[in-house]
Amino acid sequence: MDRSYKLADDEFNSLREYIYKRSGIFFTEKNRFQLEIKIKERLSDTGCGNIFNYINYLGSFNNSSDELNNLFNAITVNETSFFRDRKFISAVEKNVIPEIIKTNKVLGFGQVRVWSAASSSGEEAYTIAIMFAEHLKSELSKWTVRIIATDINEDVLKSCRTGIYSGYSMRNMSPDIRQRYFRHIDSDRYEIRDDIKAMVIPEKCNLMDYESCRKYKGIDLLLIRNVLIYFDAESKQKVLKTCFENLKAGGYMFLGHAETLFGFNNDFKLVHFVNAIGYKK
Ligand SMILES: C[S@@+](CC[C@H](N)C(=O)[O-])C[C@H]1O[C@@H](n2cnc3c(N)ncnc32)[C@H](O)[C@@H]1O
Repeated sequence: MDRSYKLADDEFNSLREYIYKRSGIFFTEKNRFQLEIKIKERLSDTGCGNIFNYINYLGSFNNSSDELNNLFNAITVNETSFFRDRKFISAVEKNVIPEIIKTNKVLGFGQVRVWSAASSSGEEAYTIAIMFAEHLKSELSKWTVRIIATDINEDVLKSCRTGIYSGYSMRNMSPDIRQRYFRHIDSDRYEIRDDIKAMVIPEKCNLMDYESCRKYKGIDLLLIRNVLIYFDAESKQKVLKTCFENLKAGGYMFLGHAETLFGFNNDFKLVHFVNAIGYKK
């Protein structure tokens, strides 16, 4: 059985243009087949029959609709895990978090704002929350550490809100951390501790929507990892400009290990850690 809908060239071009304008995600010719697989179900669920009817059904570029959410949920790639990318984790653990704590400490306590932009189901955001808990220890309750976990995909945000994960997404986590920060619900489900869950605020935010990103200001640590790869140069530039504006002076930003600012933004200072690089405002 063919699991895909074969897109004619004019259908492919119109659909990818629509998706690009709404999300910044750009489907290249190489990724055409993935789009063909993903769009088949949307056409059948909506009864639209062809791409031009479907685009009409989605509505104008300024509208937000349930079907637009369904489309985003279908086309985004949400691969993630706890403690993903050991070298990045080590830089944040050993250098960045101690520096943020030192800088933000006022009379024994302080406030920290982290933005995990494109956080998928929240593993990245909860990893940062656990790392702050490990550093602050008994002081944790005196601090206000807010980790805003945003994504365009509502399905993954729902998972983030539950705080319940499988053993597979915890594969890079030490058994000791798993035991101290999670409750084993049943065979392969683990729930994050309530105080750690309370540190993470999941919210829907489209990185292409400048107005909705603007509220995440005064950020100490910004993670925008493994999402820029889906954007073209213009979208990257736009998003990185917002990231720069939203960071505090001295705040850090990290991209995915295969991503770079090179050629897109000169505002940030490059910071070298052992086997990892970060960016500083
Ligand atoms: C591969 S995941 C990365 C998750 C996590 N940052 C990590 O590195 O493990 C990419 C995420 O980007 C989200 N995304 C794609 N386009 C977006 C946009 N325009 N605005 C916000 N999130 C977006 C997807 O929904 C997906 O969850």
